[in-house]
Amino acid sequence: MALSSSTLCHQNLTKPYYISFHKQPHILSHLQFQTPPKTLTLDPKFTITGGCKLSGHVPISGSKNSALSILAATLCCSGTSKLHGVPNLSDTRTMASILRSLGAEIEACNGEMWINADGVGSVEPCPEDIGKIRGGFFVIGPLLARFGEAVVALPGGCDIGTRPVDLYIRGLRALGAIVELGDGKVRAQAANGRGLVGGRFRLDHPSVGATETLMMAACMADGVTVLSNVAKEPEVIDLARFLTGSGACVEGAGSDTLYIKGKNQLHGSECIVPPDRIEAGTFMLAAAITRSSISMSPVIPSHVACLIDKLLAAGCKITCAHDTLEVSAVPDDVGDNLQGFDVRTCPFPGFPTDLQPQTMVLLTTCNGSSIVEETVFENRMGHVRELQKLGARIQVCGSTAVICGKEKGSALLSSQLVAKDLRGGVSLVLAGLAAEGVTEISGIAHIDRGYENLDAKLRLLGADIKRLIPLTSPL
Ligand code: UD1
Repeated sequence: MALSSSTLCHQNLTKPYYISFHKQPHILSHLQFQTPPKTLTLDPKFTITGGCKLSGHVPISGSKNSALSILAATLCCSGTSKLHGVPNLSDTRTMASILRSLGAEIEACNGEMWINADGVGSVEPCPEDIGKIRGGFFVIGPLLARFGEAVVALPGGCDIGTRPVDLYIRGLRALGAIVELGDGKVRAQAANGRGLVGGRFRLDHPSVGATETLMMAACMADGVTVLSNVAKEPEVIDLARFLTGSGACVEGAGSDTLYIKGKNQLHGSECIVPPDRIEAGTFMLAAAITRSSISMSPVIPSHVACLIDKLLAAGCKITCAHDTLEVSAVPDDVGDNLQGFDVRTCPFPGFPTDLQPQTMVLLTTCNGSSIVEETVFENRMGHVRELQKLGARIQVCGSTAVICGKEKGSALLSSQLVAKDLRGGVSLVLAGLAAEGVTEISGIAHIDRGYENLDAKLRLLGADIKRLIPLTSPL
């Protein structure tokens, strides 16, 4: 089916995502893994020879952010929870390590994970691990709900703004917790010495993490909780679906108000982590940036509706059949060049901030000037300086960037770049695919936090990308 914006408007954004297990892509069996060359480097690096056209099909992994919140939620459950399609990423491994530091038992194999939190005997997860990822902080909700107490270090994650936790703290207080912040840790305790109680809380801003954390806490609070101005991201719906499958009573996920009736106990359940909309969006943009045609699955089109609209406006051809999306920007299909467009990032269903850097790369290759306005995080322009090293003409003023496009295709030139955060880092990879010559990118641990086998998947599509791994043994 060829897509238009009106097609997407009619899609039910909260429709459950069901696929049978055997349809999940077995990524390891699809991909050719490259033996890294024995080259002496201090950090792992990517080297990319630009100019290759991409073609073929790429499997999309399970959603990182859904997996992280669902993993946190397994702490609410007695018995074993089984997750399918958990992406093998440094962030999900860190989350598993956080759960283990509390006493949970976890087994993982080929994207499946079994979590049993019956043996949890600590309410203070490993602070070093919490400091590595933003999602680690979410465990404060389940710990407080189940054990009446939690001591959680302040979270890490990408350096893209101040990223406070005030909404989490005020929300937990509204559920009857005494919460104090000191020495880099948040200490929370149920005020009545027993457990949380239902309450009402309106978030000043629809924070995804605060919504998810408060939802988990409210599922085991005594009474009814009403959370308003909550996040509507698909990951919030995924979490609500897991919690409901585990015996919780959550209504309103996907709207701006959540109604939650607390239960004494939740039980482990089985769930499939839906596909990662940001990974899908990144590959859609890779096709556009390289003026190529690729397909990908599984994708939930309504999750990437905003990007589809923008790519259609630019002149790309997009078709969709079941859960497969095909993006073409091949000149024979779409004409000589794509047209630039303006972007303003917003909470879902607006344009995702996690696709802003990658979109900016596309705009450097389009006709005309474009404006990108970042409204979610106050410091998410770190990739611009690196893109400028490639010759991109981008001017930043506060949280707004003006991008001068090229009249005909990309004229980005190669350089040595440093990835400083996850999405900014992957935008450099996309730029390297289009740049003339060999681009070298260090700091790729940031990219490995959120993209499963990125380089192997790009090679599968025909890109010339190599991962140089530091030598640990003599030649
Ligand atoms: C999640 C995603 C991240 C995505 C972001 C926005 C995970 C693990 N990460 O991050 O990939 O970029 O949603 O879609 O799911 N804020 C406050 N006070 C708070 C909490 C948030 O002021 O207590 C502000 C933040 O500083 C930011 C804005 O709210 O400016 C949005 O942040 P939020 O939605 O909370 O993002 P995360 O949940 O951290």
